[in-house]
Amino acid sequence: MDPRVVVFLCIFIAIVKTTKVDMSSEWKPERGWEITCSWKLFNNDSLQSVRLFENDRQFMIFRPEVDKNPRIEQYRRLEDEMLVECQESVPRGLVGTCVLTMEFYQPPTNDFRFSCEASGERPMFRMERKSLVVKALVPPTDAVIEVGSRNADTGRVTLNCTSSGLPAPQLEWRIGEQKVPADFSNRSWNFTSKLYHVWSVVSYSSSEHVAMCIPETSKDGETKRGAAALYSSAESVVKD
Ligand SMILES: *[C@@H]1O[C@H](CO)[C@@H](O)[C@H](O)[C@H]1NC(C)=O
Ligand SMILES: *[C@@H]1O[C@H](CO)[C@@H](O)[C@H](O)[C@H]1NC(C)=O
Ligand SMILES: *[C@@H]1O[C@H](CO)[C@@H](O)[C@H](O)[C@H]1NC(C)=O
Ligand SMILES: *[C@@H]1O[C@H](CO)[C@@H](O)[C@H](O)[C@H]1NC(C)=O
Repeated sequence: MDPRVVVFLCIFIAIVKTTKVDMSSEWKPERGWEITCSWKLFNNDSLQSVRLFENDRQFMIFRPEVDKNPRIEQYRRLEDEMLVECQESVPRGLVGTCVLTMEFYQPPTNDFRFSCEASGERPMFRMERKSLVVKALVPPTDAVIEVGSRNADTGRVTLNCTSSGLPAPQLEWRIGEQKVPADFSNRSWNFTSKLYHVWSVVSYSSSEHVAMCIPETSKDGETKRGAAALYSSAESVVKD
């Protein structure tokens, strides 16, 4: 084997063994995404810096030697506000986290890519970088059917089905086994929940069939379903 390849492999293995970076993301209701980067360096190292990138552009660097611990930064942008808190949890920064929380002012449409790079001290500067793509997709809430009106003589009911998600969920109606189009539907973005609230109205003669409303959210070929809501004669129930 080429000695340069051997050297490269040895360095590569040393890096993987000594510095560990993990990233995760979670949707926080009525806020937005929370993204966590946590790092762990080898015992004989100490933290030189942690760099944070959004879509491969560095926007923050945390150096516990010169920065406050924790270091808290706030980034106000047109579409959102991002709060970042970086903290070493043991001396020399061997273990620590950076937590980013995003609060949206507008419905997010694009996916985000965050990267986090932790680097040890000289002379090795052992570093590790991890990336995470946050998909702008929040599964729909379970559907809820409300009875708008009911004609006792004809048995005709008007049902209003609602759900929330991101992007706006589609609501599919089935009467019995039959897919039926909605009479009308609409959506609005809720500034508090940070999700689209959608509703869809259907009228039919209820005596014979059960009505079902299925909420579904799709983005880039990925589809998430919420629990369907059912309506039969006088009651509506949520089904798993
Ligand atoms: C730290 O420990 C690693 C793993 O045992 C070793 O490869 C490295 O040489 C050590 N570094 C120093 C500066 O002692
Ligand atoms: C359906 O419910 C939504 C709220 O979830 C409401 O804004 C809308 O007016 C309702 N539509 C009908 C026809 O009842
Ligand atoms: C749909 O919702 C928008 C705002 O959320 C409203 O301006 C519009 O009038 C609604 N359309 C119907 C048909 O209700
Ligand atoms: C927006 O969502 C919140 C829950 O996050 C809810 O309490 C509120 O009623 C919703 N507003 C509208 C206009 O639907």
